[in-house]
Amino acid sequence: METKLVKPTDEMIALASDLLKKGEVVGVPTETVYGLAGDSSNAEAIKKIFLAKGRPMDNPLICHISNFEMLGRVAKDLSSDAIKLARTFWPGPLTIVVKRGDGVCLESTAGLDSVGIRMPSNEIARKIIERAGIPFSAPSANLSGRPSPTNAKDVFCDMNGKIPLIIDGGECDAGVESTVVSALQETPVLLRPGVVTKEQIESVLGKKIDVAKGVLEQVAKDEKVLSPGMKYRHYAPNASVIIIKSDFEKFKEYVEKNKADGTYALLFDGEKVDLPSLYYGGADDDKAQAHNLFSKLREFDELGAKTVFARCPKQTGVGLAVYNRLIRSAGFHVIEL
Ligand code: TXA
Ligand code: MG
Repeated sequence: METKLVKPTDEMIALASDLLKKGEVVGVPTETVYGLAGDSSNAEAIKKIFLAKGRPMDNPLICHISNFEMLGRVAKDLSSDAIKLARTFWPGPLTIVVKRGDGVCLESTAGLDSVGIRMPSNEIARKIIERAGIPFSAPSANLSGRPSPTNAKDVFCDMNGKIPLIIDGGECDAGVESTVVSALQETPVLLRPGVVTKEQIESVLGKKIDVAKGVLEQVAKDEKVLSPGMKYRHYAPNASVIIIKSDFEKFKEYVEKNKADGTYALLFDGEKVDLPSLYYGGADDDKAQAHNLFSKLREFDELGAKTVFARCPKQTGVGLAVYNRLIRSAGFHVIEL
Protein backbone atom coordinates (compact mmCIF):
# COMPACT_ATOMS: atom_id res chain seq x y z
CA MET A 1 0.00 0.00 0.00
CA GLU A 2 1.24 3.49 -0.79
CA THR A 3 1.31 5.80 2.23
CA LYS A 4 0.60 9.46 1.48
CA LEU A 5 2.13 12.06 3.80
CA VAL A 6 0.16 15.29 3.34
CA LYS A 7 -0.36 18.79 4.78
CA PRO A 8 -3.60 19.45 6.70
CA THR A 9 -5.50 21.28 3.94
CA ASP A 10 -9.32 21.23 3.95
CA GLU A 11 -9.19 18.74 1.11
CA MET A 12 -6.88 16.37 3.01
CA ILE A 13 -8.92 16.67 6.22
CA ALA A 14 -11.98 15.70 4.15
CA LEU A 15 -10.04 12.76 2.71
CA ALA A 16 -9.01 11.62 6.22
CA SER A 17 -12.66 11.77 7.37
CA ASP A 18 -13.82 9.82 4.31
CA LEU A 19 -11.19 7.14 4.87
CA LEU A 20 -12.29 6.80 8.51
CA LYS A 21 -15.93 6.39 7.45
CA LYS A 22 -14.85 3.67 5.02
CA GLY A 23 -13.11 1.73 7.79
CA GLU A 24 -9.54 2.73 6.91
CA VAL A 25 -6.79 3.75 9.32
CA VAL A 26 -5.23 7.23 9.21
CA GLY A 27 -2.20 8.78 10.96
CA VAL A 28 -3.32 11.97 12.71
CA PRO A 29 -1.64 14.62 14.86
CA THR A 30 -2.88 15.33 18.37
CA GLU A 31 -1.54 17.69 21.04
CA THR A 32 0.15 14.72 22.80
CA VAL A 33 1.61 12.35 20.18
CA TYR A 34 0.49 11.19 16.72
CA GLY A 35 -2.30 8.61 16.68
CA LEU A 36 -3.41 5.78 14.37
CA ALA A 37 -7.11 6.52 13.99
CA GLY A 38 -9.95 4.15 13.09
CA ASP A 39 -13.77 4.28 13.53
CA SER A 40 -14.45 3.30 17.18
CA SER A 41 -17.61 1.40 16.21
CA ASN A 42 -16.06 -0.60 13.35
CA ALA A 43 -14.43 -3.88 14.40
CA GLU A 44 -12.70 -4.31 11.04
CA ALA A 45 -11.10 -0.85 11.24
CA ILE A 46 -9.94 -1.56 14.79
CA LYS A 47 -8.37 -4.86 13.74
CA LYS A 48 -6.37 -2.98 11.10
CA ILE A 49 -4.95 -0.70 13.82
CA PHE A 50 -3.77 -3.63 15.93
CA LEU A 51 -2.24 -5.24 12.86
CA ALA A 52 -0.42 -2.10 11.65
CA LYS A 53 1.14 -1.57 15.09
CA GLY A 54 1.77 -5.20 15.96
CA ARG A 55 -0.07 -4.43 19.21
CA PRO A 56 -0.96 -7.14 21.75
CA MET A 57 -4.68 -7.87 21.38
CA ASP A 58 -5.42 -7.40 25.09
CA ASN A 59 -4.35 -3.74 25.16
CA PRO A 60 -7.38 -1.41 24.77
CA LEU A 61 -7.48 1.75 22.64
CA ILE A 62 -8.48 5.28 23.63
CA CYS A 63 -11.63 6.67 22.00
CA HIS A 64 -11.42 10.30 20.78
CA ILE A 65 -14.45 12.61 20.57
CA SER A 66 -14.87 16.22 19.47
CA ASN A 67 -17.94 17.33 21.45
CA PHE A 68 -20.01 16.41 24.50
CA GLU A 69 -22.90 15.01 22.43
CA MET A 70 -20.58 12.21 21.27
CA LEU A 71 -19.78 11.35 24.89
CA GLY A 72 -23.28 9.91 25.32
CA ARG A 73 -22.65 7.48 22.48
CA VAL A 74 -19.35 6.10 23.72
CA ALA A 75 -19.83 6.13 27.51
CA LYS A 76 -22.52 5.53 30.11
CA ASP A 77 -23.21 5.96 33.85
CA LEU A 78 -20.60 8.71 34.29
CA SER A 79 -19.62 9.40 37.90
CA SER A 80 -19.59 12.97 39.16
CA ASP A 81 -15.76 12.77 39.28
CA ALA A 82 -15.67 11.82 35.58
CA ILE A 83 -17.93 14.75 34.70
CA LYS A 84 -15.86 17.22 36.74
CA LEU A 85 -12.65 16.07 35.06
CA ALA A 86 -14.15 16.20 31.56
CA ARG A 87 -15.58 19.69 32.13
CA THR A 88 -12.26 20.97 33.45
CA PHE A 89 -9.65 19.37 31.21
CA TRP A 90 -11.41 18.79 27.87
CA PRO A 91 -10.52 19.51 25.20
CA GLY A 92 -7.02 18.49 26.26
CA PRO A 93 -4.58 15.71 27.10
CA LEU A 94 -6.62 13.80 29.71
CA THR A 95 -8.11 10.33 29.13
CA ILE A 96 -10.87 9.28 31.51
CA VAL A 97 -11.72 5.59 31.91
CA VAL A 98 -15.50 5.12 32.30
CA LYS A 99 -18.16 2.51 31.45
CA ARG A 100 -18.23 1.63 27.76
CA GLY A 101 -21.17 2.85 25.66
CA ASP A 102 -22.57 1.00 22.62
CA GLY A 103 -20.80 3.31 20.17
CA VAL A 104 -17.46 1.65 20.93
CA CYS A 105 -16.98 -1.91 19.74
CA LEU A 106 -15.53 -4.56 22.05
CA GLU A 107 -12.51 -4.97 19.76
CA SER A 108 -11.52 -1.38 20.57
CA THR A 109 -11.57 -1.96 24.33
CA ALA A 110 -9.97 -5.40 24.03
CA GLY A 111 -13.14 -6.94 25.44
CA LEU A 112 -13.42 -4.65 28.49
CA ASP A 113 -16.69 -3.08 29.70
CA SER A 114 -14.76 0.12 30.32
CA VAL A 115 -13.37 2.60 27.81
CA GLY A 116 -10.75 5.35 27.92
CA ILE A 117 -12.10 8.55 26.35
CA ARG A 118 -10.56 11.87 25.54
CA MET A 119 -11.43 15.03 23.63
CA PRO A 120 -8.24 16.24 21.96
CA SER A 121 -7.51 19.95 21.72
CA ASN A 122 -5.53 19.65 18.47
CA GLU A 123 -7.56 21.47 15.80
CA ILE A 124 -6.74 19.01 13.02
CA ALA A 125 -7.80 15.98 15.06
CA ARG A 126 -11.01 17.76 16.08
CA LYS A 127 -11.86 18.75 12.50
CA ILE A 128 -11.37 15.17 11.29
CA ILE A 129 -13.73 13.80 13.97
CA GLU A 130 -16.25 16.60 13.44
CA ARG A 131 -16.32 16.16 9.68
CA ALA A 132 -16.60 12.38 9.82
CA GLY A 133 -19.24 12.68 12.56
CA ILE A 134 -17.77 9.63 14.28
CA PRO A 135 -15.43 9.18 17.24
CA PHE A 136 -12.13 7.48 16.43
CA SER A 137 -10.08 5.08 18.48
CA ALA A 138 -6.36 5.75 18.31
CA PRO A 139 -3.26 4.36 19.93
CA SER A 140 0.05 6.17 19.48
CA ALA A 141 1.17 5.79 15.85
CA ASN A 142 4.38 3.85 16.53
CA LEU A 143 5.15 0.20 15.97
CA SER A 144 4.38 -1.52 19.26
CA GLY A 145 7.30 -1.14 21.67
CA ARG A 146 8.94 1.85 19.90
CA PRO A 147 8.98 5.45 21.20
CA SER A 148 5.74 7.28 20.34
CA PRO A 149 5.96 9.57 17.28
CA THR A 150 5.85 13.31 17.96
CA ASN A 151 6.15 14.39 14.33
CA ALA A 152 4.82 13.10 10.99
CA LYS A 153 8.24 11.90 9.77
CA ASP A 154 8.48 9.49 12.71
CA VAL A 155 4.98 8.15 11.92
CA PHE A 156 6.02 7.64 8.30
CA CYS A 157 9.14 5.82 9.45
CA ASP A 158 7.05 3.24 11.38
CA MET A 159 3.90 3.11 9.20
CA ASN A 160 5.10 3.48 5.61
CA GLY A 161 3.29 0.87 3.49
CA LYS A 162 0.83 -0.06 6.25
CA ILE A 163 -1.74 2.78 6.17
CA PRO A 164 -3.04 4.96 3.29
CA LEU A 165 -2.66 8.44 4.78
CA ILE A 166 -0.72 10.48 7.35
CA ILE A 167 -1.68 14.09 8.06
CA ASP A 168 1.36 16.23 8.87
CA GLY A 169 0.34 18.64 11.63
CA GLY A 170 3.90 19.53 12.66
CA GLU A 171 5.42 18.76 16.04
CA CYS A 172 3.14 17.73 18.91
CA ASP A 173 2.96 20.21 21.80
CA ALA A 174 3.13 17.85 24.77
CA GLY A 175 5.39 15.13 23.36
CA VAL A 176 4.11 12.46 25.79
CA GLU A 177 0.77 10.65 25.68
CA SER A 178 -2.30 11.80 27.59
CA THR A 179 -2.72 11.34 31.31
CA VAL A 180 -4.98 8.31 31.90
CA VAL A 181 -7.18 8.33 35.01
CA SER A 182 -9.79 5.72 35.89
CA ALA A 183 -13.01 7.23 37.27
CA LEU A 184 -14.63 3.82 37.81
CA GLN A 185 -13.64 3.68 41.47
CA GLU A 186 -14.79 5.78 44.43
CA THR A 187 -11.20 7.00 44.61
CA PRO A 188 -10.01 7.59 41.03
CA VAL A 189 -6.74 5.93 39.99
CA LEU A 190 -3.93 7.45 37.94
CA LEU A 191 -3.05 4.80 35.34
CA ARG A 192 -0.58 6.83 33.27
CA PRO A 193 0.90 10.25 34.13
CA GLY A 194 0.96 13.00 31.49
CA VAL A 195 0.97 16.78 31.18
CA VAL A 196 -2.29 17.02 33.11
CA THR A 197 -0.72 16.32 36.50
CA LYS A 198 -1.87 14.29 39.49
CA GLU A 199 -1.73 17.50 41.52
CA GLN A 200 -4.10 19.28 39.08
CA ILE A 201 -6.56 16.36 39.12
CA GLU A 202 -6.58 16.25 42.93
CA SER A 203 -7.17 19.97 43.13
CA VAL A 204 -10.22 19.73 40.82
CA LEU A 205 -11.69 16.72 42.63
CA GLY A 206 -10.88 18.09 46.07
CA LYS A 207 -9.45 14.74 47.15
CA LYS A 208 -6.36 12.54 46.83
CA ILE A 209 -6.32 9.97 44.02
CA ASP A 210 -4.49 6.64 43.94
CA VAL A 211 -1.53 5.88 41.71
CA ALA A 212 -1.57 2.46 40.01
CA LYS A 213 1.38 0.27 40.89
CA GLY A 214 2.67 0.05 37.31
CA VAL A 215 3.26 3.82 37.04
CA LEU A 216 6.62 3.75 38.80
CA GLU A 217 7.38 0.07 39.25
CA GLN A 218 7.64 -2.87 36.95
CA VAL A 219 4.69 -5.28 37.00
CA ALA A 220 5.05 -8.95 36.12
CA LYS A 221 3.68 -10.13 32.74
CA ASP A 222 1.07 -12.33 34.40
CA GLU A 223 0.13 -9.82 37.13
CA LYS A 224 -3.42 -8.43 37.08
CA VAL A 225 -3.26 -4.70 36.32
CA LEU A 226 -5.85 -1.95 35.96
CA SER A 227 -4.38 -0.84 32.64
CA PRO A 228 -3.12 -3.57 30.30
CA GLY A 229 -0.64 -1.18 28.65
CA MET A 230 1.48 -1.25 31.82
CA LYS A 231 2.66 -4.79 31.24
CA TYR A 232 4.46 -4.26 27.98
CA ARG A 233 7.93 -3.04 27.06
CA HIS A 234 7.47 0.47 25.82
CA TYR A 235 9.11 3.46 24.21
CA ALA A 236 12.35 1.55 23.63
CA PRO A 237 14.97 2.69 21.14
CA ASN A 238 17.42 0.09 19.79
CA ALA A 239 20.05 1.24 22.27
CA SER A 240 19.97 0.10 25.90
CA VAL A 241 19.00 3.05 28.02
CA ILE A 242 20.34 3.27 31.59
CA ILE A 243 19.04 5.91 33.99
CA ILE A 244 21.63 7.23 36.42
CA LYS A 245 20.05 8.62 39.61
CA SER A 246 22.63 11.01 41.04
CA ASP A 247 23.84 14.58 40.99
CA PHE A 248 25.59 15.81 37.86
CA GLU A 249 29.16 15.45 39.24
CA LYS A 250 28.71 11.76 40.03
CA PHE A 251 26.90 11.18 36.72
CA LYS A 252 29.82 12.71 34.80
CA GLU A 253 32.41 10.70 36.67
CA TYR A 254 30.47 7.44 36.18
CA VAL A 255 29.74 7.78 32.47
CA GLU A 256 33.25 8.94 31.59
CA LYS A 257 34.66 5.91 33.43
CA ASN A 258 32.19 3.48 31.81
CA LYS A 259 32.09 4.77 28.26
CA ALA A 260 32.77 2.49 25.29
CA ASP A 261 32.18 2.50 21.55
CA GLY A 262 28.57 3.59 20.87
CA THR A 263 27.99 5.06 24.34
CA TYR A 264 25.99 8.30 24.41
CA ALA A 265 24.59 10.58 27.09
CA LEU A 266 21.12 12.12 27.45
CA LEU A 267 21.67 15.33 29.38
CA PHE A 268 19.89 18.40 30.69
CA ASP A 269 20.60 21.69 28.91
CA GLY A 270 23.92 23.33 29.80
CA GLU A 271 25.63 20.14 31.02
CA LYS A 272 28.78 18.72 29.44
CA VAL A 273 30.45 15.31 29.60
CA ASP A 274 33.18 13.72 27.53
CA LEU A 275 30.71 11.62 25.47
CA PRO A 276 28.58 12.36 22.41
CA SER A 277 25.39 13.82 23.92
CA LEU A 278 21.82 14.87 23.20
CA TYR A 279 19.86 17.32 25.36
CA TYR A 280 16.25 17.03 26.42
CA GLY A 281 15.53 20.27 28.28
CA GLY A 282 16.53 22.15 31.40
CA ALA A 283 16.86 20.18 34.67
CA ASP A 284 13.83 22.04 36.05
CA ASP A 285 11.89 22.30 32.79
CA ASP A 286 9.71 19.17 32.88
CA LYS A 287 7.53 20.38 30.00
CA ALA A 288 10.54 20.71 27.69
CA GLN A 289 11.76 17.26 28.76
CA ALA A 290 8.34 15.78 27.91
CA HIS A 291 8.28 17.60 24.59
CA ASN A 292 11.72 16.31 23.56
CA LEU A 293 12.09 12.87 25.14
CA PHE A 294 10.67 10.59 22.41
CA SER A 295 12.24 12.44 19.50
CA LYS A 296 15.64 12.29 21.24
CA LEU A 297 15.24 8.55 21.85
CA ARG A 298 14.59 8.11 18.13
CA GLU A 299 17.58 10.32 17.31
CA PHE A 300 19.87 7.99 19.29
CA ASP A 301 18.81 5.20 16.90
CA GLU A 302 19.66 7.32 13.88
CA LEU A 303 23.10 7.93 15.43
CA GLY A 304 23.60 4.19 15.96
CA ALA A 305 23.87 4.45 19.74
CA LYS A 306 24.39 1.17 21.60
CA THR A 307 24.12 2.46 25.17
CA VAL A 308 22.56 5.69 26.44
CA PHE A 309 23.26 6.97 29.95
CA ALA A 310 20.39 9.27 30.91
CA ARG A 311 20.11 12.00 33.51
CA CYS A 312 17.16 11.27 35.80
CA PRO A 313 14.16 13.64 35.73
CA LYS A 314 12.30 14.79 38.85
CA GLN A 315 9.15 12.85 39.67
CA THR A 316 6.78 15.71 40.41
CA GLY A 317 4.37 17.55 38.09
CA VAL A 318 4.97 16.71 34.42
CA GLY A 319 8.28 15.16 35.55
CA LEU A 320 6.30 12.13 36.74
CA ALA A 321 5.26 11.51 33.11
CA VAL A 322 8.82 11.99 31.86
CA TYR A 323 10.16 9.58 34.47
CA ASN A 324 7.40 7.03 33.74
CA ARG A 325 8.29 6.98 29.99
CA LEU A 326 12.05 7.05 30.48
CA ILE A 327 12.06 4.21 33.01
CA ARG A 328 10.08 2.05 30.55
CA SER A 329 12.42 2.87 27.68
CA ALA A 330 15.22 1.79 30.02
CA GLY A 331 13.43 -1.49 30.80
CA PHE A 332 13.53 -0.31 34.47
CA HIS A 333 17.34 -0.26 34.45
CA VAL A 334 18.28 2.41 37.03
CA ILE A 335 21.67 2.87 38.68
CA GLU A 336 21.68 4.89 41.90
CA LEU A 337 25.00 6.53 42.83
O1 TXA B 1 -2.22 10.83 24.07
C1 TXA B 1 -2.72 9.74 23.86
O2 TXA B 1 -3.44 9.16 24.70
C2 TXA B 1 -2.44 9.07 22.51
C3 TXA B 1 -3.07 9.94 21.43
C4 TXA B 1 -3.00 9.32 20.07
O3 TXA B 1 -4.38 10.27 21.78
N1 TXA B 1 -2.89 7.73 22.49
C5 TXA B 1 -2.28 6.75 23.21
O4 TXA B 1 -2.82 5.49 23.06
O5 TXA B 1 -1.31 6.95 23.91
P1 TXA B 1 -2.07 4.17 23.49
O6 TXA B 1 -2.93 3.10 22.93
O7 TXA B 1 -0.68 4.21 23.03
O8 TXA B 1 -2.19 4.10 25.03
C6 TXA B 1 -3.44 3.86 25.66
C7 TXA B 1 -3.25 3.51 27.10
C8 TXA B 1 -2.75 2.10 27.28
O9 TXA B 1 -1.80 2.06 28.31
C9 TXA B 1 -4.03 1.34 27.64
O10 TXA B 1 -3.76 0.19 28.41
C10 TXA B 1 -4.79 2.39 28.43
O11 TXA B 1 -4.50 3.61 27.78
N2 TXA B 1 -6.24 2.15 28.37
C11 TXA B 1 -7.07 2.33 27.31
N3 TXA B 1 -8.32 1.96 27.60
C12 TXA B 1 -8.32 1.52 28.87
C13 TXA B 1 -9.30 0.95 29.75
N4 TXA B 1 -10.55 0.78 29.37
N5 TXA B 1 -8.91 0.60 31.00
C14 TXA B 1 -7.63 0.78 31.40
N6 TXA B 1 -6.64 1.29 30.62
C15 TXA B 1 -6.97 1.64 29.38
MG1 MG C 1 1.36 3.86 22.88
